[in-house]
Amino acid sequence: MRNSILIRLFTVLSVFAVVMTSLHLMLQMIETGLFSRVDVTKNLLRYKYLMENETFAAAYYGSLDQSKLRRQSGHSSFPRMPPPLPLLRNLSSKVEAFLEEPVINPHPYGYLHNPEMMCGEKHVDILFVIPSAPENVWKRRKVRKSGLGLYSRLKSFKSVSVVFFLGLPDAHKKQANLTQTIVCAEAEKYGDIVQENFTDVYRNIRLKAVSMLRWAATYCSNASYVIRMDDDVAITVNVILSSIKIVGSRYDNFVLGDVKKDWGPSRYAKNKYYVTKAEFANDTYPPFALGGLLGYPLKTVRLLFEASLRVKPLWLDDVYITGLCAPEIDAVLVSDMGFRFRHLKEDVNGLI
Ligand SMILES: *[C@@H]1O[C@H](CO)[C@@H](O)[C@H](O)[C@H]1NC(C)=O
Ligand SMILES: *[C@@H]1O[C@H](CO)[C@@H](O)[C@H](O)[C@H]1NC(C)=O
Ligand SMILES: *[C@@H]1O[C@H](CO)[C@@H](O)[C@H](O)[C@H]1NC(C)=O
Ligand SMILES: *[C@@H]1O[C@H](CO)[C@@H](O)[C@H](O)[C@H]1NC(C)=O
Ligand SMILES: *[C@@H]1O[C@H](CO)[C@@H](O)[C@H](O)[C@H]1NC(C)=O
Ligand SMILES: *[C@@H]1O[C@H](CO)[C@@H](O)[C@H](O)[C@H]1NC(C)=O
Repeated sequence: MRNSILIRLFTVLSVFAVVMTSLHLMLQMIETGLFSRVDVTKNLLRYKYLMENETFAAAYYGSLDQSKLRRQSGHSSFPRMPPPLPLLRNLSSKVEAFLEEPVINPHPYGYLHNPEMMCGEKHVDILFVIPSAPENVWKRRKVRKSGLGLYSRLKSFKSVSVVFFLGLPDAHKKQANLTQTIVCAEAEKYGDIVQENFTDVYRNIRLKAVSMLRWAATYCSNASYVIRMDDDVAITVNVILSSIKIVGSRYDNFVLGDVKKDWGPSRYAKNKYYVTKAEFANDTYPPFALGGLLGYPLKTVRLLFEASLRVKPLWLDDVYITGLCAPEIDAVLVSDMGFRFRHLKEDVNGLI
């Protein structure tokens, strides 16, 4: 008899707890705009169609108020340069000597879109930086709808933010202007787009890697870690976060990722990763971490940015940043199961 009363009481309490938690979550979702926002880019859901049908695209493009969209989205026609970074202190004499070397690769690109207050408005502990081609509207949408996107919007979770990094649409591509218009709409709606004025082509991924390092060091210097992730990589947020925190408790200057040893450049001109002897003479790369998923503390981010200005360039950004720049600033490469990753399959239709 007493037992059954206890069981009933327990059931009632459990149901109450579940209801309260759900209510709390829902209130948070409404508060963070997950339900309430009307999707500005909804009209652009026909993006793939737009890209394929020039007649339709031209009519659609003509119907948009370009200048209004650009004004609203904070699009800057005169790309703005970031403020200078504070000086680095407390360095080893080796790193100090390295930083005295002349800058041979300046990064003279400014911002067309820059959500510079992102890390000032809330305390961001972990910043996810995601390189993304301007036309990858679908992939960005998918990331925003993923577990990671949810994490970054719900207040009660860790202070996580997500920023996409874009260059300018390649003017040779069909519908480059339309793509830029859509980027402006996205920037206005989500405020999660950093766009610099270099041309966004695959051979410029080193510039994009540098743009991510510079932005994080300039506008999010109070974060603990930066995670660099491709826009088509599948991750479990908790695994990534616990992995980097464990590594962070052991090292203070590191690059965490899937480390590859004894890999070498492809000398086959048609290969996606083709590198000439003039670009890189040695037939073996130094150990490096794959660029699809990387983690580093802010200190390392800042130092890697400085190194990228001084180390002879190689267009392959992961080999360059984690293999060639990291040793110059004494960052250690750390491998961890949590940072193994796979790319998601292309599924444009599934995204609608
Ligand atoms: C392209 O769009 C135009 C205007 O909407 C339409 O009339 C035409 O049928 C479309 N062409 C194709 C191949 O879908
Ligand atoms: C990019 O913007 C910067 C800053 O406004 C400017 O100095 C530079 O010439 C621009 N570069 C290109 C390629 O447009
Ligand atoms: C300076 O660096 C040393 C060694 O890396 C470290 O132990 C020390 O805490 C640092 N001091 C400051 C003020 O950051
Ligand atoms: C970092 O924190 C300090 C002190 O809390 C603050 O003055 C500074 O503006 C913050 N920097 C950024 C980039 O948010
Ligand atoms: C794209 O925009 C540029 C600059 O606004 C303009 O010069 C060019 O003619 C446009 N191209 C097309 C195809 O509309
Ligand atoms: C080529 O790379 C290997 C492995 O990183 C290194 O041991 C060797 O010294 C390099 N050779 C030259 C000529 O730089």
